[in-house]
Amino acid sequence: MTTPLIIDCDPGQDDAVALLLAMANPSELELLGVTVVAGNVPLARTVYNARVIRELAGRLDVPVLAGCPRPILLPPRTAEYIHGEGGIDGADLPEPSAPPELTHAVVWLIETLRLAARPVTLATLGPLTNIATALVMAPDIAGKVERLVLMGGAIGQGNVTASAEFNIYVDPHAAAAVFSAGLDLTMIGLDVTHQARATPARIARIAAAGTKAARAAAGMLDFFSARYAESGRVAGGAPLHDPCVIAYLLRPELFEGRPMEVEVETASALTLGRTACDPHLRRGRPANALVLERIDAEGYFSLIADSMINLR
Ligand code: BDR
Ligand code: CA
Repeated sequence: MTTPLIIDCDPGQDDAVALLLAMANPSELELLGVTVVAGNVPLARTVYNARVIRELAGRLDVPVLAGCPRPILLPPRTAEYIHGEGGIDGADLPEPSAPPELTHAVVWLIETLRLAARPVTLATLGPLTNIATALVMAPDIAGKVERLVLMGGAIGQGNVTASAEFNIYVDPHAAAAVFSAGLDLTMIGLDVTHQARATPARIARIAAAGTKAARAAAGMLDFFSARYAESGRVAGGAPLHDPCVIAYLLRPELFEGRPMEVEVETASALTLGRTACDPHLRRGRPANALVLERIDAEGYFSLIADSMINLR
């Protein structure tokens, strides 16, 4: 039985590889649509990039929908310093021919979830603005969400500030709404994704899959790794964040984690966007997320390389 899935994203090289990984596995993931949010680059560009990747994967059957152009309360913050001006720099890909849908992503999310014959899995790879807005507009949709698996947050250090990871930092109010919505939530934060480094050998392995998608993925990962190194963040291979979400849906046995109580900081200027994760439930509140802590990185990169063969 396939898993009905919606991906909410802000491509981004790592979002792009995540989309390819999902689109390469149609016998396991029934991708109902890709909703797009502002994040790594402005919305016009994240939507363009999602369309580029959809065509690269030959999946014009998957609708792409533009969502919120800015966070709920805060001004937009982008990350061209990591992703380049275009967001998916490193892949030399043609202009997409198919347009995005005309419907707003949030409206589409609400309608699609309400009409779904069985509960849908949400995979979120960017700021949580679209999902939080949909939950505020239509709280009933929570009942149609099988589970939500997100890339974001950290148990340990952040990557934008000492406290906060990018996706949560950009829209902490949206993240707080999602973490308190009572959904079946799985959080994949920096503690996991920094174990999954796109080393030159692993990128070469992806390229060796030999397809156009494989070469584009390898080009994007080369660029992404070089930017991580130049910015003084991580040398020897960028952490490959977002595909972890799709890999977890496909191969959960590659990951380990524990239930935790997670709260998102929205008030403190110093720790804005911090995900305070407590496996010991010291505040007397129940766990609200499964927080992953470990990944089998070799298995993860094998899955990506093998999947690229499926995309001609
Ligand atoms: C997250 O932020 C973005 O730069 C990446 O696409 C990923 O979703 C990592 O902090
Ligand atoms: Ca992302």
